[in-house]
Amino acid sequence: MRSLRTGLSLASLVSGLALLLGAPPAQAADAPLRDLADAKSKVIGTAVTGSKLTGTYGEIAAREFNALTPGNAMKWGSVEPTRGTFNWAEADQIVNFAEANGQQVRGHTLVWHSQNPSWLTNGTWTTAELRQLMTDHIATEVGRYKGRLETWDVVNEPFNEDGTYRQTLWYNGLGADYIAEALTAARAADPSAKLYINDYNVEGVNAKSTALYNLVKSLKERGVPIDGVGLQAHLILGQVPATLQQNIQRFADLGLDVAITELDIRMNLPSDSAKLAQQAAEYKQVMNACVAVARCVGVTVWGFTDSDSWIPDTFPGQGAATPYDENFAPKPAYHAIAEALGGTTTPPTGCTVTYSVVHQWNGGFTGQVRIDCSGASLASWKANWTFGAGQQLTQAWNANCTQSGSAVNCSNASYNGTVPDGGSVTFGFNASWSGSNPVPVVTLG
Ligand code: XIL
Repeated sequence: MRSLRTGLSLASLVSGLALLLGAPPAQAADAPLRDLADAKSKVIGTAVTGSKLTGTYGEIAAREFNALTPGNAMKWGSVEPTRGTFNWAEADQIVNFAEANGQQVRGHTLVWHSQNPSWLTNGTWTTAELRQLMTDHIATEVGRYKGRLETWDVVNEPFNEDGTYRQTLWYNGLGADYIAEALTAARAADPSAKLYINDYNVEGVNAKSTALYNLVKSLKERGVPIDGVGLQAHLILGQVPATLQQNIQRFADLGLDVAITELDIRMNLPSDSAKLAQQAAEYKQVMNACVAVARCVGVTVWGFTDSDSWIPDTFPGQGAATPYDENFAPKPAYHAIAEALGGTTTPPTGCTVTYSVVHQWNGGFTGQVRIDCSGASLASWKANWTFGAGQQLTQAWNANCTQSGSAVNCSNASYNGTVPDGGSVTFGFNASWSGSNPVPVVTLG
């Protein structure tokens, strides 16, 4: 696993700091998920959006995950919107970020029916031209990142639900062997990358996963380069397949790696504590199934925060599918993942304060401070910190804040002094910054 950890100490120190007031914590805070996963030689990854990799989003992505998958940045429509004109900016940014943070990268995805450029889908191609387009695309993109990516999702979503081949540009033009040809081209372009076929609704034993099983078995028998299968795992609350572990095991028994590549567990909105508790149990079930099978290399979540999840757009009325809420607070699902990776389980008792940068632009940013109480409550509160790099408060809401020198002192507004057991209060502010914008330690008083 290419996941040597470098240069993280500052990020680990300053981000997501939660200080406790009241009863002492039941246990020390959990180690970041990536440390727990490293200790088990497993991947814990997340899909990311390149433009968001600053502020709190970037800090969590770096601190908690040992692998990244570009959510959209490496798709054909993103990298070659016009024929022969390439845009690698976001893909490069994500790969560079991963390398700076000792994370591996899962390339996603080369040959798919969706998110292709219109010049490709609207073109009229002979069989030979189509084959050339596919293999050139693979050579160009895989070649660009040669030696730097751990894994490629070479072919994405080749099957229908009944196990027949999906009728796509590729299948219709080249026949079922487009899959073998794509894998062969990818191996030639980067011999060290692990090559996967990835699909959804193949998590349990069913017609679709059996078709995938038969395909990869025959590819192996033919000597076609294939290293693993990706089970996307876009799951629905209450519907984790009972045969998940058994299914992972049967692929492993073929001598293939298995990865859970796009885990999310969606629910009908609004979420509530019962649904979130059930979601946590189901995240744990999925994690446990992967941890139990040696050849299951790990789990990647499809976005780590609800604010960066595809679910609400694609499945209207559903959401809350990831391990962090929209304000970057870890949900029960986060603790469940930690637990499955061998971390501590008891959430701390007391009131904690979390500071996050929710939006940052040149010269300014919006910050948010959130006080959560569990097993304790507050009748009034103060939150104090020191800006370490000359940041200057310009405005605050839902709190009375003053800044003197670098010291910022905030106290509750008349209407939000009470934080009940199990409840939270959030306030926000705008401030200026230049040079750097480190996250301060906030004390609750
Ligand atoms: C999704 C992205 O998350 C969205 O931002 C985009 O609009 C559509 O695609 N299966 C896959 C992923 O393999 O590439 C998809 O990602 C989700 C389903």
